[in-house]
Amino acid sequence: MLFRVHPGDVHNATVAVPGDKSISHRALMLGSIADGESRISGFLNGEDCLATLEAMSAMGVRIDRPDDTTVVVHGVGMRGLEAPAADLDMGNSGTAMRLMAGLLAGQAFSATLVGDASLTSRPMGRIIKPLGDMGAEIHSDEGRPPLTIRGTGKLRGIHYDMPIASAQVKSAVLLAGLYATGDTSVTEPAVTRDHTERMLESMGVDIGREGGRLTVRAQQRLRGCNIQVPGDLSSAAFVVLAALLAKDADVLIETVGVNPTRTGVIDILRAMGADISLENPRMFAAEPVADLRVRSSTLHGCDVDPGLVSLAIDEFPVLFVAAGAASGVTRFSGIGELRVKESDRIAAMAAGLQSLGISVEESPDGAVVSGGEFSGGEVESLGDHRIAMALAVAGSVATGPVVVLDVAAVDTSFPGFAALMGSAGLNIEVRE
Ligand code: S3P
Repeated sequence: MLFRVHPGDVHNATVAVPGDKSISHRALMLGSIADGESRISGFLNGEDCLATLEAMSAMGVRIDRPDDTTVVVHGVGMRGLEAPAADLDMGNSGTAMRLMAGLLAGQAFSATLVGDASLTSRPMGRIIKPLGDMGAEIHSDEGRPPLTIRGTGKLRGIHYDMPIASAQVKSAVLLAGLYATGDTSVTEPAVTRDHTERMLESMGVDIGREGGRLTVRAQQRLRGCNIQVPGDLSSAAFVVLAALLAKDADVLIETVGVNPTRTGVIDILRAMGADISLENPRMFAAEPVADLRVRSSTLHGCDVDPGLVSLAIDEFPVLFVAAGAASGVTRFSGIGELRVKESDRIAAMAAGLQSLGISVEESPDGAVVSGGEFSGGEVESLGDHRIAMALAVAGSVATGPVVVLDVAAVDTSFPGFAALMGSAGLNIEVRE
């Protein structure tokens, strides 16, 4: 499947993006081990979250789906999961695999987690180490999937000083900590998304926060609850970019999650001159949401604050395109983690931008983008959803058509992307 995008702007529009991927995964996992029912509305009906849903069903959790975006999880309690009859396929999703490994580490049965070619090449040592320190037995292919987690039913609490900023690692350790004897705590080198902590607290779990240290006491129970999932800011970011680059657009994106551990993209774009405002701020239980109003803006390059990287970790494909369209030079540093996402996102964006006539110099953990005019051309997404969507938006301001190859993975996080962008005025065709 490919996208062909013809030059042309988005116009004034009001849109709503699909539910937050990170929160949807967590709602399924935590709802499953809670007591009682959890009704999840605004669920992301995308392939990544469906992999988590299938895995929880395979472990004996009854999950009803009254409609595409509503899921009712009948929690089985902390000790109610059952051994799956087959391997659990996490598809393309690093979040599903790493969080599930934490959950499985605490069970009294064994299970194997597998994934697609991209996921199978991603590093899992980062969770194997702390979960191993807690007493889990995990077998991998030299630190890569498949992962076989032999449940011993006996974990001990640890303190883990995380060497890398990763919400997936933090969440895996906290989930395992629920099953350990003694307290489990983590400190992170930079703040990362805190959806796990917020959702655990709304389910009645006591989380200690002292300085930068998070602590979960063992043997707590979770109470099922209703979870309203906000729109995913990481998906909204593509709409934001299209509106900023347009000549004269005023776009409202309704009900977007604006958890401060996720809003680095807004701060960085504002530092580049973007006109983005948060309207009607409110809470969806523990998670802040707002409507984002975005007006066309003239962007200028900047030195991106490395302190914002972990708060914008999934938005760098968008930011590379913004940098390509901005006047002057944008310098990215401290973004080495992008090399181990669904693709090597520094290399993928550098190659994509260069094919469209923009100059990019890569370094091991950064890039320097010199803004200019995008030409038409054919670009590779490397099967990475966010690369595909970012380069499609670049097509809106290119001087000729942009063809983005291999875009099927967009459905992992943003089903309906082309239709939604088309409704806002982007001239995008989808071809098989
Ligand atoms: C996620 C955490 C991030 C992010 C991913 C989702 C999560 O990964 O890139 O898309 O839901 O916890 P890391 O925490 O490993 O950087």
